[in-house]
Amino acid sequence: VDVTLEKIVNLAKRRGFIFPGSEIYGGLANSWDYGPLGVLLKNNLRDAWWKHFVTSRRDMVAIDASILMNPKVWEVSGHVANFNDPLVEDKVTHQRYRLDQLLEEQGETVTGLELSELQQKADALGLKSPAGNELTEPKRFNLLFETFLGATEDNRARVYLRGELAQAMFVDFKRVMETMRPAIPFGIAQAGRVFRNEITPGNFTFRTLEFDLMEFEYFVAQTEWEQSFDYWLGEMQRWVTTEVGLAADKLRVREHTPEELSHYSKRTVDIEYQTPFGWRELFGLAYRTDFDLKNHAEASGQDLRLTEAKSGEKFYPHVVEPTFGLTRLLLMVLLDAYDEEPVKSSGGNHGPGETRTVLRLKPYLAPFQAAVLPLSRKEKLIKIAQGLADDLSRHWQTDYDETQSIGKRYRRQDEIGTPYCLTVDFDSLEDQCVTVRERDSMTQERIALDRAVPYLHEKLSDR
Ligand code: GAP
Repeated sequence: VDVTLEKIVNLAKRRGFIFPGSEIYGGLANSWDYGPLGVLLKNNLRDAWWKHFVTSRRDMVAIDASILMNPKVWEVSGHVANFNDPLVEDKVTHQRYRLDQLLEEQGETVTGLELSELQQKADALGLKSPAGNELTEPKRFNLLFETFLGATEDNRARVYLRGELAQAMFVDFKRVMETMRPAIPFGIAQAGRVFRNEITPGNFTFRTLEFDLMEFEYFVAQTEWEQSFDYWLGEMQRWVTTEVGLAADKLRVREHTPEELSHYSKRTVDIEYQTPFGWRELFGLAYRTDFDLKNHAEASGQDLRLTEAKSGEKFYPHVVEPTFGLTRLLLMVLLDAYDEEPVKSSGGNHGPGETRTVLRLKPYLAPFQAAVLPLSRKEKLIKIAQGLADDLSRHWQTDYDETQSIGKRYRRQDEIGTPYCLTVDFDSLEDQCVTVRERDSMTQERIALDRAVPYLHEKLSDR
């Protein structure tokens, strides 16, 4: 099928996955709220990641740090000086753009260029804004969001909302070592919200000003970093294909050029996904060397080294960092799972010649694993259906829906990716059975009411 971003935006809004933030006040540019289904899907993705990379491993611990940190952290990490984009403004509309992106759209190669070099290229091309107007001179625009602490105007201190999770893993390194005594190689993981004052957010939730991130810093001996890098690249690919279910042929690995590397990295690769708007970064993997620990040790005066067991020598561990954008992943999951198919028969109670939209999500990741649908609102049916929904809710996220025709209800469950619908009908009163309809095949099976839980356990046990 032709999956467009527009279709995903519509589905997400219509079915309550994601909608514009502050909508009743006209919204706030590029802010998005996760609705009742979006939050379930997001939590499921996060839980899957957490289980796979944190709790099921013996070499991983986790933290949950403050979003506001001492501003020294961001000075020492290099973000205050280096975490910026080249900003230009349309002199008429005052719309802001990233000059590197405008030049790239003209086919120019711009990675790693200084501001003056970008300006030269723009001058040589006679570059105008997309609206055809003059542009201002480029200036460096820092992506860290600033805010102020303190009650009164005159003693307010400038602080930053965290721009990445990683810094807390370095700043808390000493405490984690003291309390958990892990031996290298080991990782410190975190999942949470980060903030970046992006100049050109867009493509729905692909690039936003605040987003959820899941990442870990994996501490290794310097000699081990390449091996660790290869291992984590394999693990990231394995997780996103086998556990999340993204199509392998829509994923590729792209190596960063030396000019493109972040200020802290010696090697970075992106795992990219083929979106309707081109190949785009999904996850990143970076070798951060001992850059962060060393800088924080020097600036704080704290010893952040480990001691070699045999020789007793002190050393800085090196860091390999797999990073997973959660909200970006959720968008890719919706794009990847979206399908439309013609429905020939009335199987599944779609009309003949109709097309159904179905989200082919991994069952355990879907907002609901099951939905209970009484065929009518007759009290006797509702009683059985609600009892069944209560039973299922103890095991899975279960939807209960008694509104509209059964055809429309199936259509909704297909669109939100619910793998199993259990319909209670008038025969159920006699035979104590329900009809189970499977999302992808639309096949229907009649099972005993009291077998519903073991039946779904068996069906949902596979990832
Ligand atoms: N600690 C390393 C780090 O933060 P990054 O490449 O700057 O690395 C990590 O960001 C991930 O966060 C990306 O791979 C992407 O999935 C996601 N991401 C980055 N900027 C984003 C934005 N503006 N909106 C949504 N997700 C974003």
